[in-house]
Amino acid sequence: MKKLLVASLALFASMMVQAADDALIDRYNKTCVVCHSAGAAGAPKTGDVAAWQPRLAKGMDTLVSSVEKGMGAMPPKGMCFDCSADDYKALIEYMSAAQ
Ligand code: HEC
Repeated sequence: MKKLLVASLALFASMMVQAADDALIDRYNKTCVVCHSAGAAGAPKTGDVAAWQPRLAKGMDTLVSSVEKGMGAMPPKGMCFDCSADDYKALIEYMSAAQ
């Protein structure tokens, strides 16, 4: 019985992680992707680790505030109007990692 409980808890936990990833990717696909997939207007491309390197060097807080305020051709909030600072952080981590 105890084993079954542990097994189902582990399964539940892995499903939660999956759900979080799906929500993040869904968000990305509705907002940031418009510019960051093709690198439109000088946007650092998703998955282009070298392009993100100098951006990440500025620190995550600076990057999140760039998105919130807008930067160059990027409109304030990066078109994600219900994103929290944590959402931006997760999106930036997703975009700056090799895909
Ligand atoms: C309309 C196009 C557009 C959209 C939508 C967009 N971006 Fe950008 N983003 C850009 C451009 C262009 C730059 C480069 C700005 C520059 O260097 O002048 C940029 C730069 C950035 C940077 C680097 C900021 C810095 O300080 O160097 C981050 C982080 C970023 N975007 C995150 C996001 C996130 C997260 C989203 C989705 C919520 C998003 N962007 C949506 C166009 C966009």
